[in-house]
Amino acid sequence: MTYARITGTGGYLPENIMTNHDLEKIVDTTDQWIRERTGIEQRHIAVEGQTMVDLAEMAARRAIEAADIDAQDIDLIILATSTPDKIFPSSACILQARLDIHGCPAFDVQAVCTGFIYAMTIAEKFITTGSSKKALVIGAEVFSHILNWKDRTTCVLFGDGAGAVILEASEDTGILSTHIHADGKYENLLLVPYGIADGYDKVKAGEAFIEMKGNEVFKVAVNTLGRIVDETLAANNMMKSDIDWLVPHQANIRIITATAKKLKMSMDQVVVTINKHGNTSAASVPLALDVAVRDGRIKPNELLLLEAFGGGFTWGSVLTRF
Ligand code: UT7
Repeated sequence: MTYARITGTGGYLPENIMTNHDLEKIVDTTDQWIRERTGIEQRHIAVEGQTMVDLAEMAARRAIEAADIDAQDIDLIILATSTPDKIFPSSACILQARLDIHGCPAFDVQAVCTGFIYAMTIAEKFITTGSSKKALVIGAEVFSHILNWKDRTTCVLFGDGAGAVILEASEDTGILSTHIHADGKYENLLLVPYGIADGYDKVKAGEAFIEMKGNEVFKVAVNTLGRIVDETLAANNMMKSDIDWLVPHQANIRIITATAKKLKMSMDQVVVTINKHGNTSAASVPLALDVAVRDGRIKPNELLLLEAFGGGFTWGSVLTRF
């Protein structure tokens, strides 16, 4: 049987750090409120002129190096983002050219914070059906470009960054199952209300900002992530105690803690980066994965549960042996 196995991870965060204290000078907020309500202490923000593909390229190069493969052998590129450099070509095509890769399929996936889970799900299907042998899967965002820096209910939450993995066809066990869902009826709880249809002039003027009814999103997120955990374990006939590591989307430490509690997992088995990264949307899961792989916490053959929830609403999980 052929599995899709993660053989390398990479991450990149812009050097520019914005702390909660920096935000106190911009909006009516406090370091204490942000820490207590979200778990965030700081976030990385792209510098002037630095684009999402710039971040994605750095993360991709690090993943390629970690997997010890030749970039030319990559036969599929999937880039999850909600902040593409251009309307078209896709950012995956722009990245493909930067990596000097030519001919393989390259496309973007838009599932907001669940984007990386969606991208992994698609790549896994390509690999297990024999259509791909080495896939580059990336989550990258510059949410700082779509934040209203006068809105304290959103601008304190998000950060910029990119995470990437190389997925290879393998006889050794890798991804065991993937689960993705969406329910578009929740559009109005979390959105950027402008695009081509609703007045692209707002996008051009840099006025297309995230709007979120945070409290309502929070409640649906906690319940939905609880359900996806049950669905994933049931599909694999596994118990909560089988999971070695939870690698969750980093939206709010209270959401992460609730999911860990549901899994009866100690927080020592949960990869938490929200304190340093903030919410980096599609980049948050691969960035967290990369951090815990590089610092030696995640070891070969351990069982990882990756999960995310975001705008759409979209949600999903990946259960994988590392
Ligand atoms: O990644 C995609 C999915 N996103 C999420 O999962 C985010 C889910 N939501 C959340 O994480 C939380 O709802 C937030 C962190 C966004 C907000 O936390 P909350 O505990 O739900 O706060 P709240 O919205 O109920 O607001 C509580 C109070 C309000 O004041 P009043 O009405 O009680 O006087 C807000 O105006 O906190 C106020 N507030 C702030 N105060 C200081 C809201 N933002 C801030 C702020 N600083 N930045």
